[in-house]
Amino acid sequence: MHGTDAPEGRALEVFAPAKINLTLHVTGQRADGYHLLDSLVVFADVGDRLRLTPGEGLALRVTGPLAAGVPEDARNLVWKAAELAGWRGRIELEKHLPHGGGIGGGSSDAGAFLRAVGWRESTVSLGADVPVCRLGQAARMSGIGDQITPAEDVMSFFAVLVNPNVHIATPKVFQSLVAKTNPPMPPLPAAGAGGSVWIEWLTTQRNDLQDAAQEVAPVIGDVCVALDETDEVLLTRMSGSGATCFGLYPSAKAAHAAAETLSQQHPDWWCVPTVLN
Ligand code: C5P
Repeated sequence: MHGTDAPEGRALEVFAPAKINLTLHVTGQRADGYHLLDSLVVFADVGDRLRLTPGEGLALRVTGPLAAGVPEDARNLVWKAAELAGWRGRIELEKHLPHGGGIGGGSSDAGAFLRAVGWRESTVSLGADVPVCRLGQAARMSGIGDQITPAEDVMSFFAVLVNPNVHIATPKVFQSLVAKTNPPMPPLPAAGAGGSVWIEWLTTQRNDLQDAAQEVAPVIGDVCVALDETDEVLLTRMSGSGATCFGLYPSAKAAHAAAETLSQQHPDWWCVPTVLN
């Protein structure tokens, strides 16, 4: 715990949902090394919780089931977000999402924080996923992650998120990437498109980081196979730079059953049923 015992303002409760890349296309690379992306991003109903109490100084305390190893100082992205916004006070962060897992653990905390304090300036300096996480709603993300177009017509999906307790360094995945100039996403399905249209469309899309991530962490292949083998699964893919993968299902019942099965088969994996969007 860092900071001071300051006179306190009213506390603000903030939800920081898991970020899922339904697609993640790498379409090029800039001269500075950053990659150009084209990604359809949605948010889950599972996530971290923040409690912000304005005051003097800056203090961060991390609790919750996945708090182990999460820094409580300036190494934490939410601390960096507070510094960027010039915000002062106490941040209590309850971790439910694995960090370094491709579902925006740290980026979502930072994005939710910046949304809550009304920060409207650029946030990409904190990381490529922070701008979309500040929006916190389904969006198409392009550029290096700095161009965000809200995608209101994305349908909701029942899903299971699975992380094999592996933290992957994003730069390592980008460095292992073989093909850096891939086709962008075609237009999204039209407003009102049904589940079968969406699944068909998603099946023809990709996560261009998946092979490279699997090279770094072969267990990702095991996760996808395990998801593929669950009853009624419609689509299996990795999110972000991994290692979290998701499966999509036709009903909440099917998603819950799949999560239950996977938890029994792999008690050491993080398996969570959720609704995306
Ligand atoms: O922005 P973020 O901190 O998530 O990025 C981590 C690393 O991933 C960057 O330092 C860079 O090596 C790589 N990256 C990239 N192109 C992007 C986003 C990230 O090459 N658009």
